[in-house]
Amino acid sequence: MRRSAIIGTGSVLPKTRLSNDELAQNYHIDTSDAWIVERTGIRFRHIADSDETTGTLATEAARRALKNANVAPEEVGLIIVATTTPDYTLPATAMSVQADLGVGDCIAFDVQAVCSGFLYALSVADSMLRTDSAKVALVIGAETFTRLLNWEDRTTCVLFGDGAGAVVLRQTDDVEKGIQTVKLHADGRYKDLLCSDGGVSTTGTVGKLLMKGREVFRHAVTNLVSVTEEALTASGFSASQVDWVVPHQANARILSATAQKLGVPSEQVVMTVDRHANTAAASVPLALDAAVQDGRIKSGDLVVLEAMGGGFTWGAAVIRF
Ligand code: ACO
Repeated sequence: MRRSAIIGTGSVLPKTRLSNDELAQNYHIDTSDAWIVERTGIRFRHIADSDETTGTLATEAARRALKNANVAPEEVGLIIVATTTPDYTLPATAMSVQADLGVGDCIAFDVQAVCSGFLYALSVADSMLRTDSAKVALVIGAETFTRLLNWEDRTTCVLFGDGAGAVVLRQTDDVEKGIQTVKLHADGRYKDLLCSDGGVSTTGTVGKLLMKGREVFRHAVTNLVSVTEEALTASGFSASQVDWVVPHQANARILSATAQKLGVPSEQVVMTVDRHANTAAASVPLALDAAVQDGRIKSGDLVVLEAMGGGFTWGAAVIRF
């Protein structure tokens, strides 16, 4: 049975980094470092400047992932960008990545599942590599999510940041390695709890983010625990065999509550929310790259990726590195 394996990761953050105090001052927000740290664990976030877009961040993250995988752009047969904040309504941001990296004829498109987007994209890419649509894929999560924020809404604007992360997937016949399972879910009954108040076909604008934070929080831990257990069971592993959990970085309290319920020690949970904030579809590949580059995640490790986002959408992947 053929699988796909992650053979390289890369990521990038915008140049400008703001602490909670700097954010409050620059955007005139009635908040405090103490409130944000206590409720979310967030201390810093990066915010894209006008010359930085989802496409430029996605391209740079992909370039770094290709370099780390020692793969030439010409070898790429599939590019999927998961994003909520594309450069343009059309064409897909994946087309900019393809052109800017100098990848030749390939399959390229975007997927949209908000904070779960990277897991959705990974699942699609894995299926396409297994069925031979391509041999090498770039899967990217990239966002300029702060462009969707209402800076007058302190309940949401302190929570998010911008960035991009990417992985290179390659077909493998080694069934011990690579993506063992991805499980995905969605429940549109909750679409109004985390949404934008605009869109091309409704208001003709992009809209701004709206979120009922407390209700999102309530669903997050339950959904993340159940989908992670489902993915582990489907791949024949238990939580005690997991070396690293790389969660969507929404809130430190969601991360610890989920890990605790799963029975995974907090030292085995990769946490970047303190310095990245919530970067939506970019958060899982950004955290994954951080743990690969600092040497925590090594070849042979069993790694769980998990995410939940607007929709609701949620998912988990079990991967042998
Ligand atoms: N600074 C200071 N005070 C604030 C701020 C702020 N930035 N935001 C809200 N407050 C105030 C509120 O006005 C309220 O004041 P009141 O009691 O006088 O009315 C008080 O703080 C408590 O507000 P709550 O919204 O009840 O605070 P809560 O403890 O629920 O924390 C938070 C809010 C951090 C948003 C939390 O609900 C949360 O993390 N939810 C999950 C949302 C999330 O992570 N979404 C990301 C996308 S989905 C996902 O990725 C899983």
